[in-house]
Amino acid sequence: MPMTGSRDSDDKGRSDAPPPRSCLYVPASNPRAIEKARDLPADVVILDLEDAVAPDAKTDARIAACWEIARGGFGTRALVIRINPLPSIWGMDDLHAAVQSGAHALLVPKVTCAADIRAIDAAMTAAGAPGEMALWAMIEMPLAILNIAEITAGAGQSRLSAFVIGINDLAKETGAMMTADRAAFQSALQMTITAARAYGLTAIDGVFNDISDRAGLESECQQGRMLGYDGKSVIHPDQIEICNRIFSPSPGEVEQARMIIAAFADPHNDGQAVLKVGGIMTERLHWEQAKRIVAIAERIKRLTE
Ligand code: COA
Ligand code: MG
Repeated sequence: MPMTGSRDSDDKGRSDAPPPRSCLYVPASNPRAIEKARDLPADVVILDLEDAVAPDAKTDARIAACWEIARGGFGTRALVIRINPLPSIWGMDDLHAAVQSGAHALLVPKVTCAADIRAIDAAMTAAGAPGEMALWAMIEMPLAILNIAEITAGAGQSRLSAFVIGINDLAKETGAMMTADRAAFQSALQMTITAARAYGLTAIDGVFNDISDRAGLESECQQGRMLGYDGKSVIHPDQIEICNRIFSPSPGEVEQARMIIAAFADPHNDGQAVLKVGGIMTERLHWEQAKRIVAIAERIKRLTE
């Protein structure tokens, strides 16, 4: 399935799809920004019908999103449409348009429980969504954090394949302050990534609002990467390069991974469960990690060839 996003399917899915290091929100009501997105190095383009579009512009934005996807020209970028919440007056019309648009995934905001996922999944199928179209869910409501285990547990029986954490909404809903270290959001960030990994989902970190603060973005990317996120949501072209760099395996990581793969392939080490590689205790689980790092690095390299 394209962009199903599981750690396994990452490597089995669209062979031309980049890993989702940078997921660029583009207001579907902004044709200039959509045109630019065709040439920007974002891995994923999220055409937004929700918060970035004013109520009076919702209908035109929905039509524009579908028209722009039909026009094409986005290359290997995965295309996602973020719809309005299903209970809103626009939600169902957005869903019907999005599933027919050719987008790779539909991103649904403000989910709170497993029943939401089941309802959206069923509505997508009833509306004729292609079998390979994925469902991405925003984790941005306090209830979603409390219910994260049950929300994720439906992944195997539905199109659910990725979580996108929404820190702005979590701050609004909880009253927590957004500080540089995101201390107030650590438990939400960790619960979301842990749940995602428990069921093989992709996990995308939230946006960094201060477009002018490159050092702040870099530090937040490092934190997201450290927590295990696959990539980050971005809102402006200037943020893409930093995300792509930090969410790519570093040259040192790739070198170490290649050494581990070579060590386990060495006939002298046949049947060994644990080795010393570059002075470091290395088990077969590290071999699995090493193969994943090299696979991601090779996918990224193919993008630039
Ligand atoms: N995608 C593609 N292009 C974008 C872009 C985006 N998200 N944001 C800005 N650009 C383009 C602009 O069109 C402009 O292009 P141009 O100079 O060639 O005409 C260029 O990048 C520089 O933009 P800039 O002048 O710095 O910003 P702006 O005032 O035009 O826009 C925002 C600032 C915040 C309104 C805009 O970045 C934006 O809408 N971001 C997405 C917001 C969003 O989707 N929010 C919902 C999810 S949180
Ligand atoms: Mg939101």
